[in-house]
Amino acid sequence: MIAPSILAANFNHLEKDIEVINRSEADFVHCDVMDGVFVPNISFGIPVIKQVKKIAEKPLDVHLMIVDPDKFIADFAAAGASYLTVHYEACNHLHRTVSQIKANGMKASVCLNPHTPVAVLEDIISELNMVLLMSVNPGFGGQKFIANTYKKVTQLRKLIDSVNSDCLIEVDGGVNFETGKSLIEAGADVLVAGSFVFKSENPEKTINDLKLL
Ligand code: DX5
Ligand code: ZN
Repeated sequence: MIAPSILAANFNHLEKDIEVINRSEADFVHCDVMDGVFVPNISFGIPVIKQVKKIAEKPLDVHLMIVDPDKFIADFAAAGASYLTVHYEACNHLHRTVSQIKANGMKASVCLNPHTPVAVLEDIISELNMVLLMSVNPGFGGQKFIANTYKKVTQLRKLIDSVNSDCLIEVDGGVNFETGKSLIEAGADVLVAGSFVFKSENPEKTINDLKLL
């Protein structure tokens, strides 16, 4: 599955770029929310997501790069998020956070930074609908893919299979045809792609070509 990230879209005509995603074979719209505290950058928040929801024909996959995400779970549900991803590194009481995401009617997803080992999810994996592995340090689009991620995908696939779960593996950062193909081979289910899609000559075709990997 493919989740184009609108962080790399042109915010002067966001509607046009959402329509490209609508027409394409993409599976999700990936929305990157940054607070300038958890990550060294600020992107967009709830009002923008509400507008995106009005025109997007694919489910919203909302990636929160914020401290204290618990405060905003109900707001993101109301804004139209289908999957809500919180960072392991931002949650002191992850089990409670995950339960609240599900109680608000969304699919629960947890994200690991490049330095965080997959093993920290052992005791919560059976509760999760998706795990997002960062393959760059979060905060910016257009960064170089960290190759250690392949190993983490393989480890995570084993962990998910060991509990007979249908939890999805999503990977985010530096995805292109080459890294994407190797990630699928390692066991990834969903690829996030920002600049590779929106900086390409024909974003719709790039999305559809990624689907063929
Ligand atoms: C990075 C974001 C990513 C970003 C990916 O912090 O989480 O979703 O949009 O961008 P690319 O695909 O350009 O690496
Ligand atoms: Zn993201």
